[in-house]
Amino acid sequence: MNIRWVGAKKTVYDTVGGRAWFEELVEYFYTNVESDQVIRGLYPKDLTLSKKNTTDFLIQYWGGPTDYSTNRGHPRLRMRHAPFAIGTKERDAWMNDMREAVNAMNPTTEIKEAMLDYFEMASTHMINTET
Ligand code: HEM
Repeated sequence: MNIRWVGAKKTVYDTVGGRAWFEELVEYFYTNVESDQVIRGLYPKDLTLSKKNTTDFLIQYWGGPTDYSTNRGHPRLRMRHAPFAIGTKERDAWMNDMREAVNAMNPTTEIKEAMLDYFEMASTHMINTET
């Protein structure tokens, strides 16, 4: 266990229940993406690896194991998204798919707000085109 977390505080990762919770969140999200006419085409046909990388990333971001960086290196998310044309429309579609997934998981208000704030901020940061 990371020494910084010995004591009363728990990470978000621990609080929600670990890996299984993030796997379920990501399943919800990609189920939404599957039927999203705005952004489905940006993703590969087979979403298996997308699911794994997204799950690992979110686990790492919220204080869990750092498998994402072990396998993929520094996140550099904006750079990794550069190959995909992401305008306001794509960003909003992505955010709607993720918001619905977070709500479906029914976390505590505190965790829901923290996650939605993060996703709002980070998805806006991913915009790389005007169209
Ligand atoms: C909070 C905002 C976002 C986060 C945390 C996020 C996270 C990620 C991660 C971790 C990956 C996998 C990178 C890797 O291969 O290591 C990824 C891939 C991808 N993301 Fe995002 N993303 C965000 C926003 C967006 C937005 C707004 C779009 C627009 C549609 C988008 C579209 C994609 C696409 C098309 C891929 C490639 C999937 C693949 O190759 O498997 N993302 N994203």
